[in-house]
Amino acid sequence: MSASTITPWVVGNWKMNPVQAQAQQLLNEFKQLLQNSPIAQEKCHLGIAPTMLALSTVQAQMADAARPVYTVAQDVSRIAGTGAYTGEVSAELLADHGVGYVLVGHSERREIFADQRDQLNAKVQNALNAGLTVIYCVGESLAQREAGQAEVVVLQQICDIAAVVTGDAWGKIVIAYEPIWAIGTGKTASPEDAQAMHAKIREGLKQLTPHGANMAILYGGSVKAENAVELAACPDINGALVGGASLNADSFHQIALAFANTK
Ligand code: PGA
Repeated sequence: MSASTITPWVVGNWKMNPVQAQAQQLLNEFKQLLQNSPIAQEKCHLGIAPTMLALSTVQAQMADAARPVYTVAQDVSRIAGTGAYTGEVSAELLADHGVGYVLVGHSERREIFADQRDQLNAKVQNALNAGLTVIYCVGESLAQREAGQAEVVVLQQICDIAAVVTGDAWGKIVIAYEPIWAIGTGKTASPEDAQAMHAKIREGLKQLTPHGANMAILYGGSVKAENAVELAACPDINGALVGGASLNADSFHQIALAFANTK
């Protein structure tokens, strides 16, 4: 199967945004756009990652959308099950609330909240055990890129999870490549640079698992309506993890259209 037969994913990462009234308006606008300008389900997976607090509300509000839009948690506890762990939300509790997808390893978690390999592996393992699909984020810093280490850093981050992902569990992993210097900065990796890294990631995945040829590799970092088409045209870019632009219904819809129509 060639890379281009992979159904793309466009996932909005709302981070610690927005307030309730804005979220409601954003979702209503997005639902209207999906109604007026449909994006076929088989052409593109769509997801929204709101705060933990808003997962159930977003899910309820999107239940009558013209097509499925997944609710995605932005993080999950490294502790499984239930118990006395103040402030934590486990993979089992997410699954119990009908949340089937989770981001793990976002650079903001790695950098600001010190999520390290062992914690991240526990999160990935717990999510897989609870039946969730994991969108596992990787990416290099500007200093690492300038030192010529981008590829080594990113491939190492992918190899890290091979300690806990085995066999067909790879089929429940989506990779999101997000160069840290491109996140929220307005700087996007050029389509050529992004494609080059995605091709390396694809090679690495193929060495780790037979699923590697068919796994979606999303790009993230200042994706917007204006650059979505050229990113979508790259053979190994199978979708986008969208931060800032996902807080605008029209931009998010245009990005999804770009991937649905270009792939
Ligand atoms: P951005 O964020 O689109 O605002 O750069 C992407 C992300 O952090 O997932």
